[in-house]
Amino acid sequence: MDKFNIEDFTLLKQQNIHYLDNAATTQKPNCVLEAVREYYDKKNANPMRGLYDLSIAATEAYEDAREAVSKFINARDVSEIIFTRNATESLNLVAYSYGMNFINEGDEIIINISEHHSNMLPWREVAKKTGAIIKYYECDSDGRVDPDKLDEMMNERTKIVAIAQVSNVFGYTQDIKEISKRVHKYGAYIVCDGAQSVPHIPVDVQDLDVDFLAFSGHKMYAPMGIGVLYAKKEILEKMPPFLYGGEMIEYVTKDSATYAELPHKFEAGTVNDGGAVGLHAAIDYMNNIGWDTLIGRELHLTKIAMEEMAKIPNVSIIGSDKAENHSGIITFKIDGVHPHDIAAIFDSKNIAVRAGHHCTQPLHQHMGLMSTTRASITFYNNEADIEAFIDCLKGIREAMGYGK
Ligand code: ALA
Repeated sequence: MDKFNIEDFTLLKQQNIHYLDNAATTQKPNCVLEAVREYYDKKNANPMRGLYDLSIAATEAYEDAREAVSKFINARDVSEIIFTRNATESLNLVAYSYGMNFINEGDEIIINISEHHSNMLPWREVAKKTGAIIKYYECDSDGRVDPDKLDEMMNERTKIVAIAQVSNVFGYTQDIKEISKRVHKYGAYIVCDGAQSVPHIPVDVQDLDVDFLAFSGHKMYAPMGIGVLYAKKEILEKMPPFLYGGEMIEYVTKDSATYAELPHKFEAGTVNDGGAVGLHAAIDYMNNIGWDTLIGRELHLTKIAMEEMAKIPNVSIIGSDKAENHSGIITFKIDGVHPHDIAAIFDSKNIAVRAGHHCTQPLHQHMGLMSTTRASITFYNNEADIEAFIDCLKGIREAMGYGK
């Protein structure tokens, strides 16, 4: 018996939509929306500033959320959890605070070619400012990074390896534990983009031994505008603040400033307490459903979709032919049909998919493609969503004027 009910999702219940764009953002269950509402109804005040009860309650709600995130990814210490707006901001924090200050001319930064622009462009800026060298690793056609081949690219000048645990195009889950081992052999750091992994698989930062992990709340059933940077405490301690201003200070005079302890050193300005509370509720919701159901349903539906897609002429899936290697992400092309036309035809049947380069233009150039279409599945989808998707897909070439 599934531990969730589609009634949990008002939007999915009330609107006539087959929502298959979960890698872009997920729908929000009522418990998350209610938790945010309750925070604003009962606890809203500026956290960490007031000495009155309401502000203390707001601070507690915020710090409880941090603890929930810390447990969810098994951090050693809650101070290793920094709240940001999203994964992109988390990755920029690492690049601007660590990269701009600790990377020097001639140092090397390795970026997997399939990285989202968010784990690529900040490093390119670091390279521009510092004179570091960018090297691209070319993953295989499944999207896999081979730790041995990656190892061959590394040397004592390597400082950063930027890699997503799960690619937002291939859906392939990298062997991050093994990759971390190789990266650490050279004294470098692994900057892992967890935007597509943390919502879909159990992630244990101690087991993976990643130095940095970035992810977004909105892809895991929480509101938009709350994200997380996990980093090892000893690294965060040596990093200077990224943003300066309110609440990240210890003592300021006209000429000098000292900064707050972790994690507040990296959380300048009024924080998104409502968002953090929403993320806490989303984590509770996921924990309550359990990984067996979350992964089991997603995999079951991905399998059906991929098996049916394989039978349709002129449709090809990007990446592995095994559903297990997709994390619910099915990126595909149809011979002779532009992805924007594909997405428009899906939309005409109330099916939401994403078309374009998915913020991975260098990967698309590497694959010789301008753009692709992506369906992304999660646990709350059902067989009817997949059936509608396949029925529509079957007729797309014909709708575009090709013969049957
Ligand atoms: N990065 C998100 C995606 O891949 C928006 O769709």
